[in-house]
Amino acid sequence: MKDEEVRRSPLFYVGDKYKLITEIKTFFPKQIKRFVEPFVGGGSVFLNVEAESYLLNDLDKNIIEIHQFLCSQNKEETHFFEDIFEVITHYGLSCSYKKDVVPLSLKQQYKKTYYAHFNKEGFTKLKNDYNASDRSNILWLYVLLIYGFNRMLRFNSKRDYNLPVGNIDFNKNVYSALVNYFSITKKRKIYWKSLDFRRFFEQEKFSKNDFIYFDPPYLITFSEYNKYWTAQEERDLLLILDNLSTKGISFAISNVTHYKNKENKKFIEWAKKYQLNPIKSNYISYHDNTIKDFNEVLVTNY
Ligand SMILES: C[S@@+](CC[C@H](N)C(=O)[O-])C[C@H]1O[C@@H](n2cnc3c(N)ncnc32)[C@H](O)[C@@H]1O
Repeated sequence: MKDEEVRRSPLFYVGDKYKLITEIKTFFPKQIKRFVEPFVGGGSVFLNVEAESYLLNDLDKNIIEIHQFLCSQNKEETHFFEDIFEVITHYGLSCSYKKDVVPLSLKQQYKKTYYAHFNKEGFTKLKNDYNASDRSNILWLYVLLIYGFNRMLRFNSKRDYNLPVGNIDFNKNVYSALVNYFSITKKRKIYWKSLDFRRFFEQEKFSKNDFIYFDPPYLITFSEYNKYWTAQEERDLLLILDNLSTKGISFAISNVTHYKNKENKKFIEWAKKYQLNPIKSNYISYHDNTIKDFNEVLVTNY
């Protein structure tokens, strides 16, 4: 697959595999019957992998709800775009995909942050409306994701969405990522789940027809979704992987073995049983985008 053909997920997920998928895929089997991802996140991997069917899971219910919502729209593309542009217009948000509406004076005053200034009021109104609602409007949630800080989703203890406005809007990248997502998913058989990976492996049955790609949170790096990933989760995951191998089921798992002065010794030791393939990483930490000293790997059992 050439770089320009890589499909970007319209969820623009922090820590996604968009930039690494071309390299990672070179290690994947050439023919895949069922492609399974227990940690699907934004979906950059499954979007770029051909298989007969897909079983995709993530603990984050909001992410899965957005995927399911977008999949439900994949045959109604025109309606979807009418609806999303109506929300954008209703809340007075900029939409550079359609038209540049930000006044020159604002651009001159806030050279790098004019979108955030322009959209702050409408975004806050949408956020308040969403939080006051029964949270069933997934289109609103998706618009919050697109216009919110770092294109992330975060909720407080009351389950209120609580990120500030971001400095980006609905542009042509969002539009083409959505069009690609619709055209890919409408041709595919996809099953979605939202479970902790341990429950997922208890509930589902797996066979030699499956290829399972794991992209779990990394124990030694930082990200929103790493918060609840402890040595216990890591141990449970490695056990599941060993069990799969015993049953002759193929897997590949991404991970980071070294990060700044930290080392994931347990993972490195465990990986000795399998093939450890170095990946030319370009991981950008959410907290410090200058950090470059880490090793990303892909471990395969085939
Ligand atoms: C590194 S991200 C996956 C990124 C994905 N490969 C992509 O390209 O967007 C790890 C994912 O694991 C999910 N996760 C964290 N803990 C989990 C758990 N216990 N069970 C299942 N998923 C979990 C997070 O919500 C996050 O989406």
